[in-house]
Parts: sequence; C-alpha cells; structure tokens
Amino acid sequence: MSSGYEGFEASWHDLFWEAEEAPGELPLLEEFLRGKEGQCLYVGSGSGRLLGPLVAAGHEVLGLECSPEMAKLSRKNFPDARVLEQEWQKHEGEYSAIVIPAFTFQLFPDPQKQLQRLREQTNHLYLTLFFPWAEISGDLPQNEWYFDREVDLPDGRSGKLETRHKIKEQTGSLVRKHRYTLKDASGDVLKREETEQRLRFFTDVALKNLLKKTGWEIEKEINNLGEGDEEDLVYVASLHLRPVG
Ligand SMILES: C[S@@+](CC[C@H](N)C(=O)[O-])C[C@H]1O[C@@H](n2cnc3c(N)ncnc32)[C@H](O)[C@@H]1O
Repeated sequence: MSSGYEGFEASWHDLFWEAEEAPGELPLLEEFLRGKEGQCLYVGSGSGRLLGPLVAAGHEVLGLECSPEMAKLSRKNFPDARVLEQEWQKHEGEYSAIVIPAFTFQLFPDPQKQLQRLREQTNHLYLTLFFPWAEISGDLPQNEWYFDREVDLPDGRSGKLETRHKIKEQTGSLVRKHRYTLKDASGDVLKREETEQRLRFFTDVALKNLLKKTGWEIEKEINNLGEGDEEDLVYVASLHLRPVG
C-alpha cells in the first residue's frame, strides 16, 4: 500500500479539493505574506494549486515537495513557480517566512522536533491544522469504509474516494486509509488503489504546550478558514506563529 501522493491520489488531488465545498486557503496565505520581504518557503507545495497563484501574485515563494508526481504536476501546471523535490526534514535553509498550509505539518512524525527545527529556519511561521471532530465524536464510523467523494473525470470516466480511519487517542493520531476507484462511463470498476497516512492531531492544551516547549507563540489565529461563527467547533485553525519574546 502506498503512503500517498502518487497515482490517483496525486492526479485526482485537485479535483477532490475542488469538489469539497470548503473555503479556499489562498486569501489567508496572501494576508500572512503581505508586507513580508525576502524569500518564503512553502513546505508540501503539492500540485501547486496554492503555490502557483501566490507566485503569480508576486510573492517570492519557493515550493518544497517530496512526492515526485506532485512536484511534476506543479511544474506542468505552474511553470513559473519554482519547486524543490525534497523532503523538508532533509532541507537546510533560512527563510523570512515558512508556510505549511492544509494539514501537511500533521503528517510529520515527532512534531516537537519539527517545530524546533522550524525555529532554526524562520521567525515567521504559518501553519494550518485540522482537528478530527467528526472522527472523534463518532459521526464518521471507525474501522469501516465510508463514501467520501466522487468526481467526474475530464475523459468521461469517474473517480470515487472512500475512507476508513482509526483513532489512536493515546498518541493523538488518526490513521486514515483512502481507497480510490476508477470507473468507466457505465460504472464498471477499472482500477483500485489504496493509500494510508498517519496524522497527528492536537488538543488546545497539547498545542499550547508544544508551542511553549519549542519557543513559539501565537500572533494570530484564524478559525475555520475565516468562515462561520465564533461558537462553532474549530475544525481548522490557521496560525501565525512568532518566536516567544
Ligand atoms: C495535504 S497535501 C497538501 C498539498 C498542498 N499544500 C495543497 O494544499 O494543495 C500534503 C503535501 O505535502 C507533501 N509532503 C508531505 N510530507 C512532506 C515532507 N516531509 N516534505 C515535503 N513535502 C511533504 C505531500 O507529498 C503532499 O503533496
């Protein structure tokens, strides 16, 4: 089983994001970058769906992406946006800002170590984290496949995504499997692929502790991508972080 971001997971990535009726993250990234001089690193820049528009808007952003298929898509879709094909944990450098949108940071093992390392690379960090309320509350069933999304492909075929998850409360991890199915116009299954990813998640207290231990403080927090009411559960938190003091 693949650990992700190759095959259907790479080539259908943007179609599935578009199918999700969630607000986009681009305005939040633009707001964070506004007025910041110098080069910014975008960790996990994927297919370039956010990197491309940022570069087109004149921001000095360098993409970093470990999946060769995602980096290739990005270069094809947004040739003006530079992308390094490398794992961030192996990347050395200092930047005026670092952005890690979507939930890429949660894919990293050992978040404390990674936050310490980020402190060595920048003084301005943007992170977006999601909290799996639906999985934890039982709104989504554990240990069984459920329908996630289905998209029409440009060639008349269709792509279905099903998900299966397991929560490991002790370690604050969500293990999530994705099953991608390619179907022809009459609905017959042509091919299936599965991937698995482990995502860390953090309660408010755990996150505050983690930030304190690693020398970061929250300068600004935007909940649920800037939509909804203050009383809503926070599914997604976008943080502007700065060094303490
Ligand atoms: C959730 S996707 C988000 C992609 C993109 N930021 C977006 O919003 O469209 C996570 C991306 O981060 C990449 N990634 C995961 N771990 C990485 C690492 N350690 N270094 C560089 N890229 C990584 C994956 O290959 C994938 O393309």
